[in-house]
Amino acid sequence: MANQRTRSKICVVGACNIDLVSYVPRMPAVGETLHGTRFQIGFGGKGANQAVMAAKLGADVTIIAKLGRDVFGEDTLKNFERFGITTRHVHSTDQAFSGVAPIAVDPQGRNSIIIVTGANDLLTPTEIEAAGPDIAAADVLVCQLEIPLEPNLAALRLAREAGVTTIFNPAPARPELPEEVYRYSDVFCPNETETQLLTGLPVTTLGEAETAARSLLARGAGAVILTLGERGSLVVTPDGAQHVPAEAVQAVDSTGAGDAYVGSLACFLGLGQGLFEAARRAGRIATRSVLQPGTQTSFPSRDEVLELLN
Ligand code: RIB
Repeated sequence: MANQRTRSKICVVGACNIDLVSYVPRMPAVGETLHGTRFQIGFGGKGANQAVMAAKLGADVTIIAKLGRDVFGEDTLKNFERFGITTRHVHSTDQAFSGVAPIAVDPQGRNSIIIVTGANDLLTPTEIEAAGPDIAAADVLVCQLEIPLEPNLAALRLAREAGVTTIFNPAPARPELPEEVYRYSDVFCPNETETQLLTGLPVTTLGEAETAARSLLARGAGAVILTLGERGSLVVTPDGAQHVPAEAVQAVDSTGAGDAYVGSLACFLGLGQGLFEAARRAGRIATRSVLQPGTQTSFPSRDEVLELLN
């Protein structure tokens, strides 16, 4: 991470979904039919979002993913191509539909997401191994949990063998992870819910967040960046902890803010920036993303980012 580069090379392994977003006056109760105020369809999935964010910042991005052989899959592929993302490891299957995510967003910008992972579940370790040379050529590998664990582990192992910096984003939340995942993560990047579920510890105060992050470090992660929503993030390494506060804003739609953060973080670390500076910049971009509706549509462009970071 020491020398600054002019363009980072990022490899993302992860899920692609089509987001079906309904804006609602409040979250519906069980059994209730509620009138929404607006609907938006767009490209989503944690892996796809992180790849698009990094590409929007000018990174050279390769994605490894699986789509259904259907219209959503075809459109997703075109979307990647539009952002100049390398798609030679995007596979198609007729065994499942492309992933979809019906999402409800309330007036405070908070969301409820259902994921139907479909084809994402069929990405295999063999397909990851076939992408080995591209993983080894990256500056940073990024993985999350919207695909099965086995392909993630295969990718993390290959990256570690090649000396590639790894970021693991344990989203969506699950209670347990094998110890290998921590050991192969140079940067383990959970949010508050994921941290609570993985550690069983509260994350209400910054002190509690640091204790929880240290318990993740003790499992073998190189560093932990705990994202704290409107409170910013906490960067914790074996040498110390630093809080990165976030700017206070009125959120319109927080969907994908975590992905804007992780994709930006990958790009900045890939450029050789230090953890704290990369986290500070990623936080500003994630905050900007909650001001616009939609997922990838809310991610700022490179020009907007240059202005934002000046
Ligand atoms: O993190 C936001 C993403 O979660 C959405 O794009 C949705 O597809 C789900 O994967």
